[in-house]
Amino acid sequence: MIGSEDIDHRAVDILRRNDRGHYTVPTAGLYPFQWNWDSAFVALGFAVFDRDRAWREIETLLGDQWTDGMVPHIIFRGSDEGYFPGPDQWGTESEPPTSGITQPPVAATIVRQLHDRDPGQNHDRASALLPSLDRWHQWFRAARDPQGRGVVAVIHPWETGRDNAPEWDAPLAHVDTTGVESYQRRDTQHVNADQRPRDAEYDRYLALVRFGREHNWDSEVIAERHPFWVADIGLNAILLRAEDDLAALAGDLGEAAIAAAAADRARHLRAGIETLWSDTVGGYVSRDLRRQRSTDIVSVGSLLPLYCGVTRPERAARVVATMRDWLKLVRYGVPSFDPSDGGFDSVRYWRGPVWAVINWMLADGLGRGGDVDLADRIRGDTRALVESSGFYESFDPITGAGCGGRDFSWTAAIWLAWAPPSRVAALA
Ligand code: GLC
Repeated sequence: MIGSEDIDHRAVDILRRNDRGHYTVPTAGLYPFQWNWDSAFVALGFAVFDRDRAWREIETLLGDQWTDGMVPHIIFRGSDEGYFPGPDQWGTESEPPTSGITQPPVAATIVRQLHDRDPGQNHDRASALLPSLDRWHQWFRAARDPQGRGVVAVIHPWETGRDNAPEWDAPLAHVDTTGVESYQRRDTQHVNADQRPRDAEYDRYLALVRFGREHNWDSEVIAERHPFWVADIGLNAILLRAEDDLAALAGDLGEAAIAAAAADRARHLRAGIETLWSDTVGGYVSRDLRRQRSTDIVSVGSLLPLYCGVTRPERAARVVATMRDWLKLVRYGVPSFDPSDGGFDSVRYWRGPVWAVINWMLADGLGRGGDVDLADRIRGDTRALVESSGFYESFDPITGAGCGGRDFSWTAAIWLAWAPPSRVAALA
C-alpha cells in the first residue's frame, strides 16, 4: 500500500493539473469550467501548499459576480463542446458567459479559514472580498426570500449542489417538459449512465433552464412564477453557517456594518430553518414552497444543520442519531441518502454515494458540537476511501469503489485540508 505522503503528492498533482491559472476545473472532461462551490473547497486544498493560489481561486470566482449580487454556479471560461448545457442554453448575456443560477455559498466560511491560517498577512485580501460576500448573501435574502419566510428558495436542483437528490423528485414532477427540444447529454459520454441522473430528470433540468432564459433571469418573475421554488435544508444550513462566518470575519477585520448585516440575516435564517423541521419524519427536510408541502425526505441535506449548529438540543441529538443509524448499514460514511430506504442506490450520484466535501462539512460541524468521535470516524472513512480507490468524485458507501469522474479537485482538496501539519510542512 502506498504511504500517505505519496497520496499527498498525488493530491497536489491533481490540483496542479486541474489548475487553469486563476481557476481550477472540478475534473477535466466532465466539468471543464469553473464551478462555484468546487472552487471554494479547492481553495482549502491550495491553502496547504500555495496560499497565494488559494486566495486567487476565490478572487476569480467572486470577480464574476452579477451586478445584482448573485455568484453564478458555472463560469464558462473558454469553450468546450464536451459539456452540456453550455452558454447558449443559459442565455445570460454575461461576459464571460455564466449559468443563470447559483450554488451553495460555502465561500465565506472558507475565506474565514484562509484568513485565520495567516491573520497577519491576509488582512487586505480578506477585506477586499467582504463586500462581494455580503452582496451575495444579501441577494439570497432579497431575491430568494422576498416574502421574508426566513428560508431562501432554490430554482433548480443544481443550485443545491446535490443534483439528483430524492427530495427533488416530487417538486420536479410538476415541471412541464413540453417544448424541451431534443438534445444530447454529454455527461454520460464521460461517466457510466448508472452513476448519473436519469433522462427524465435531465428533461426537467433543461425545462427549468429554459424558463429562466425565456424570462431573462428576472428575479421578480422567478420569485412569482418559476416552476421550481423549493427551500433546500442543505443550502439554507450552508448559508446560515456562511453568515455566521461572515459576521465573525467582518468583525475581526473592523467592518462593523457588514458584521451587523450578516448577523441580522443569520438571526432570520436560524429561526427560518427551524420551520423546516418535520415531526412526521423526525428530521429537518426540504420544502416545496410553491405548494406549501414538505418533502418529508431525510437525505444527507437533512444532516447539514449540524454544520451550522442546531439551537434545539433534542433536534441536534435526533439528527446525530439518524447519522449513526445510517452508519451501521454501510462500511463507509456518510452516504448521501438513507441506506434503509428503497430508493437508496449506492452508485447513483446523490442517491447513495459518499462525497468528501459533505464529509468535510459534517465532520466540522460535529467537531464544533462536541461529537469528536463521530467526526473522527467520518474523517477516517474519507481517508480510507481515497487510499483504496483514489480521488474520485464520490464513492460507493458499501464497497468503497470510486464513482463518477476521476482525479477530482475537491476530493484532492479535502484530503490535503485534513493532512496533519507535519506532513503539510513538507508540501509548502
Ligand atoms: C455536479 C455536482 C455539483 C458539483 C459539480 C461539479 O453537478 O452535483 O455539486 O458542483 O458536479 O463538480
